[in-house]
Amino acid sequence: MTTAGGSDFDVVVIGGGPAGYATALYGASAGLSVAVVEREKVGGTCLHRGCIPAKEFLETASVMRTVGSAKEFGVQAGQPFLDFSVSQGRKQKVVDTLFKGLVGLMKGRGITTIDGSGQLFPGRLVRVTGPEGIVDVTGDHVVLATGSVPRTIAGFGVDGRVVLTSDEVLDLNSVPSSVAIIGGGAIGCEFASLFADLGSEVTILEALPTILTGCDEEIVAVVGRSFRKRGISVRTGVTVEGHVATGTGTTIQLGGGDSVAVDAVVVSVGRRPLTAGLVNDGTGVVVDERGYVVVDEYMRTGAEGVWAAGDVVNTPQLAHVGFAEGIVTIKGILGEAVAPVDYGRVPWCIYCHPEVAFAGMTEAEAVAGGIEVVVKKDPFAANSRARIVGETEGLVKIVAERTADGRAGKILGVHMVGPWVTEQLGQGYLAVNWEATPEEVAAFIQPHPTFSESFGETVLALTGRGLHLG
Ligand code: NAI
Repeated sequence: MTTAGGSDFDVVVIGGGPAGYATALYGASAGLSVAVVEREKVGGTCLHRGCIPAKEFLETASVMRTVGSAKEFGVQAGQPFLDFSVSQGRKQKVVDTLFKGLVGLMKGRGITTIDGSGQLFPGRLVRVTGPEGIVDVTGDHVVLATGSVPRTIAGFGVDGRVVLTSDEVLDLNSVPSSVAIIGGGAIGCEFASLFADLGSEVTILEALPTILTGCDEEIVAVVGRSFRKRGISVRTGVTVEGHVATGTGTTIQLGGGDSVAVDAVVVSVGRRPLTAGLVNDGTGVVVDERGYVVVDEYMRTGAEGVWAAGDVVNTPQLAHVGFAEGIVTIKGILGEAVAPVDYGRVPWCIYCHPEVAFAGMTEAEAVAGGIEVVVKKDPFAANSRARIVGETEGLVKIVAERTADGRAGKILGVHMVGPWVTEQLGQGYLAVNWEATPEEVAAFIQPHPTFSESFGETVLALTGRGLHLG
């Protein structure tokens, strides 16, 4: 079968992670013939080595905390004890079930999956090297979606035993008694929180002056306080120089002569795009010096009919951004009108305890951009549901543009830290992206008692008339 353009498929996607499978599913649901080239398992980093297994483990941590504080509720459960092999088994079951579901979904949509590594040649030819040997397929369109891998740092060779990246952490079969986390970004803070809840002694080593760079300062302060209260040592502004193996673990040397002795080291210093050998000469696709595929805001590379989406392009490395980029790509392929992803306003969710969720500008970003702002904050300590659940740490903070008369205008940023905020961000995300004003949002009712009342109360306060907040 050939396509209108004379190719084997309308769309050939290289890489079956979130960006790749979203492109494929969305394309197939629009009636396009689609092939996905994948050398491991569809689902990619997110499903097999990232979001899903990491959040599943964080749920184990949450159960440990809940059982640990059951006494407060009069529930006598004793001191919780972790059988990590059961936790591993449950995590794997969740991953396997979702994997099976995805495979079934792709099959049901008539998507062809080709096993192997894909390489792009001129003429939108994709050469797949896999178990069947070499297979060549052509597409009227080709989408590059090969994702990313953890970055490492010099002197810290990953051995899967003492020095780990997120890839290896998720396959551990026991919890190390002490862990150093190099890099206090999203991955670092999630693992720090996880290991602390599972009983490890945790040290975060972050080069910058703060953990969670990019989040609003007041949100970071809440996480930092909570981490310290739970015994996590947060060391910022440190230089990691190397390490010397000891009998069971290693000693990390820091700038200034200090050192930290631990059983395991997790290196979480960012991820790099996986594009080595992906694109051959003469295709017209440009890969920059950092390895990212260069695209315009519609995900078009420099080559006619070749697109790229997900972690291979230099945009926020988030599964849901990959999904959105896949949709933009397919709409572009179909010639439909499409708005590019607004990268400054995508939802961010970090699943450490306490959780962090935000969309839009931080207060500091707005001020640095010369925007005058009105800011209101509501602490979860004042929220009845938070009191009931016993999770009162955290706050909702909303940044709005200050209008000429000094009132709060367009909502620029919504920042949350606290219980289940990753599930609460939706309204804030909509408000920011709808460019809504506090008056518009305050017209909607929040159910009582819910965590989401803190968002509603903050919005009401921005109108100048809060129920509780001034
Ligand atoms: P990141 O870029 O978020 O954080 C890396 C941190 O490591 C930075 O704070 C950086 O200053 C620090 N660092 C770099 N080199 C260092 C060194 N030599 N010594 C000490 N500190 C050093 O990267 P991360 O956390 O590895 O995550 C990778 C990507 O995956 C990010 O884009 C992140 O947004 C995404 N991700 C998002 C999640 C979420 O939203 N829940 C969860 C996991 C990953």
